[in-house]
Amino acid sequence: VTDQISRIARRLDTHLSVEPGTGLRIEGVVAEELAAAYGTPLHVMSGTRLRENYRRIRDAFAARWEPGVNVYFAIKSNPALAVRRVLAQEGAGGDCLGVPELQASLTAGTRPERLVLNGNNKPDDAIELAVRCGARINVDDLDEIGRVASIARAAGRVVPVGIRTKPERGALEGRPSEMMALSVGAYAEKSKWGLEPGDAVAAVRAIQACPELRPAGVHYHLGRHLAEPEMFAGMAPGLAALLARIDAETGWMPRSLTLGGGFTQGRDPFFRNPGDGGAWPRVSDSFVAPIEQFAGAVCDGLREALAALGLPLPVLGLEPGRYITASAGVTLTEVGTVKRGSDRTWVMVDACGTHLGLSRSPRDAHAVIAVADTAAAEVVCDVVGPLCVIDVIMEQAPLPAVARGDLLAVLDTGAYADGEASNANSIGRPAVVLVEGTRADLIRRRETFADVFARDTVPPHLAGAGAGSPWHEEEPAA
Ligand SMILES: Cc1ncc(COP(=O)(O)O)c(C=O)c1O
Repeated sequence: VTDQISRIARRLDTHLSVEPGTGLRIEGVVAEELAAAYGTPLHVMSGTRLRENYRRIRDAFAARWEPGVNVYFAIKSNPALAVRRVLAQEGAGGDCLGVPELQASLTAGTRPERLVLNGNNKPDDAIELAVRCGARINVDDLDEIGRVASIARAAGRVVPVGIRTKPERGALEGRPSEMMALSVGAYAEKSKWGLEPGDAVAAVRAIQACPELRPAGVHYHLGRHLAEPEMFAGMAPGLAALLARIDAETGWMPRSLTLGGGFTQGRDPFFRNPGDGGAWPRVSDSFVAPIEQFAGAVCDGLREALAALGLPLPVLGLEPGRYITASAGVTLTEVGTVKRGSDRTWVMVDACGTHLGLSRSPRDAHAVIAVADTAAAEVVCDVVGPLCVIDVIMEQAPLPAVARGDLLAVLDTGAYADGEASNANSIGRPAVVLVEGTRADLIRRRETFADVFARDTVPPHLAGAGAGSPWHEEEPAA
């Protein structure tokens, strides 16, 4: 069936195609049928694309790094249990923050020894769960070491403890971040995470002094500031110098080095708002170098920097979130009112910006396409959601002319959309469907009124009518 489809379809991406008459398919499933079955707005995740993305980033680095590469999926980018399950089947480890992300990863069947607990100011219950299940704990401050040791002692466990360090600032100095109005170096300095090199050495010594702890790797995470291979590669000399210093001052040479996440791909919806002078992303756009180029730059840079100091190559760790999930997600949304103003046309859809991750950064910009295979002429319009804030999903967007009842697809919504969505205007969050091949399964149901107000209670003393206030007749009836 899939072969027949691909012969007649216009392929937009590995998992997206448009078929004459039928319109958009996500893998082998017709988008219009999904919208009819599950309603809109609807997040659709492609399981095949998740697997492809995972394998591609793993293989890109593994092909260039002999000691091997471990991929810790950052569940924060998409916390749906079925998404985590797909990646557990692929063998992905996990980067977790706090009890909920650990618990979700375990529930979805991730092997506990492949989990790592990251984060600042870790609560005791998160440390306890990590210790009990056998996850690694990356300490973010010296004060954590004693806390982890006493929890490990009480549990009778020996705990692998990694050292989260500050990104190496020399390489980042003066590089403007795409994400915020400061340099990447200034951001690294300002941000709360990680230990300075001197404290990293002190942390290793403190870990070595505790029989309940064993040192287990060095970690940093810079984040998605610049989608450039050179930026990641530029960190190599500083990282090598840090490993050399730890080795020289503690006698422990870290066997693993984790580079965090921040890798992105293809249409890269993050921080691409055309308000900066660009154009709205199209399906065919590719803003970012292929991951193999990132892997080449990082691995070559690290190999050279470590060799220069006579150090062995550690196992590499990666913590990709958005690289794996973003392009696997599509959000289907239905057009309602099309309103014509004096200088623009608004296409009003049922998806809210807050459900697409647009509340996270108004500079995120996704490609939007019509679901139908349409030859309608393009019109420039503002695609807007229903919220009582401006809620612009796409401003001055060139789209085929659409009318009430038509469907649009917002691409690359798999990362940081549903996971960070809010209930603004008390609107429930969309359902999520997982597609693999020709099957589609509901993996998160739509939130109902009862879900949105599930935490609420009106205290009994408010049951009475109250004093009230006079109410004035406005327009007399009849
Ligand atoms: C420690 C850590 N690792 C990995 C990630 C995932 O980043 P991304 O989704 O940009 O790949 C994050 C994101 O905040 C993080 O804090």
